[in-house]
Amino acid sequence: MDIDLVDPDLYATGGIPHEQFRWLREHAPVHRHPGNPDFWAVTRYDDVVHVSRHPEIFSSHRRLALFHEPTEEHLVLQRMMMLNQDPPEHTRKRAIVNRGFTPRTVGRLEEHIRGICDDLLDGLAGRDEVDFVRDISAPLPLYVICELLGAPPEDREKIFDWSNRLIAQDDPEFRTPGDDGMAAAGELYAYANELAVRRREEPRDDIVTRLLQPHDGEELSVEEFDLFVMLLSVAGNETTRNAASGGMLAFFQHPEQWRRMRDERAAGGERLSETFPDEIVRWVSPVNLFRRTAVQDTELGGRRIAEGDKVVVFYASANRDESAFADPYTFDVGRDPNPHIGFGGGGPHFCLGAHLARLELRVLFETLLERMPDISAAGEARRLRSNFINGIKEMPVRIG
Ligand code: HEM
Repeated sequence: MDIDLVDPDLYATGGIPHEQFRWLREHAPVHRHPGNPDFWAVTRYDDVVHVSRHPEIFSSHRRLALFHEPTEEHLVLQRMMMLNQDPPEHTRKRAIVNRGFTPRTVGRLEEHIRGICDDLLDGLAGRDEVDFVRDISAPLPLYVICELLGAPPEDREKIFDWSNRLIAQDDPEFRTPGDDGMAAAGELYAYANELAVRRREEPRDDIVTRLLQPHDGEELSVEEFDLFVMLLSVAGNETTRNAASGGMLAFFQHPEQWRRMRDERAAGGERLSETFPDEIVRWVSPVNLFRRTAVQDTELGGRRIAEGDKVVVFYASANRDESAFADPYTFDVGRDPNPHIGFGGGGPHFCLGAHLARLELRVLFETLLERMPDISAAGEARRLRSNFINGIKEMPVRIG
């Protein structure tokens, strides 16, 4: 296997290298990937789940810089974020923020999300061709996060701009913002800080207030809240955007699945609405990989892993694993059961926003089916240059 699985150009040109992943799953499922630094590439479903569920062996504490060590400045910031913490530190914070993301709390956002989708499509009235990413899939998750935070609509553009600069879209590793990204992070941090102080003084019936109020004696400090807002604007944004864009592309490539959804809705059915969002996440795998670091010697897939080794789990590969899915290379909007691990392999870091992301995808595509049933590709999609996010940067579509 002489392919460089982390070369961002590989992803920019061909997307996820599914043929190579298939070969690895069969011949070298835990593969010592050469490079500087080298790492173990984990490609089978069961092994990805094992790594995800054993944080005492595979730590998240040193993970954010996927392949290179971060600068001290980045490290300080990153280590304070939940995503890069291990139990028990992680457990406390996660228990607090879980309160804001239960299916019930998230379900209450449905009408707001429908309103956002309608507004976005209203804004395109009179146009024949638009960019699906710029005009639909990028603003949607961001506006939803603004809604979640209770930020007023007039602040949306500002927050959109900060988070775009923070994720440094053309950075293949996504996690090392340059000076401009750090400046944007500072502004977002200050904004969140103001929001937290205001909500503490004037509590409302919203998620921000819930996170800042003591519950069983636990609450987020204002600093923890600020960092959480930054994490949300990274974790909830690019992921959902690319699930939506990748989902749209999948429908263009499999028009019979789009027709299937249209026909079901025309007949008054709704069953596919329960299954298609997860199939989109499995098929697209918007997050290709995450890194862990072994903190003890261990064994995985018959290979000996040493303490300190970097271990990279490839969700995009696991989600096509023949041993976990029937016909994994078929995009099937009715797939059920669908035990995909696009939101993580089920350990303590399992995606906090999974219910929200599913809801956003469901409402978006329901709205499109209703209002733009004949939406079609108007040119090639341009892919993102990243090994981390399976992304689309531009995708012209015809809506007129
Ligand atoms: C974590 C995927 C949407 C917030 C994760 C992880 C993955 C993931 C793979 C890491 C799991 C692990 O390490 O075991 C996705 C995908 C999404 C999505 C594919 C969209 C389709 C969202 C949304 C939000 C969100 C909408 C919030 C608004 C988070 C947070 C974490 C996380 C806060 C860290 C959780 C922790 O460390 O405990 N997500 N995500 N995600 N996600 Fe998502």
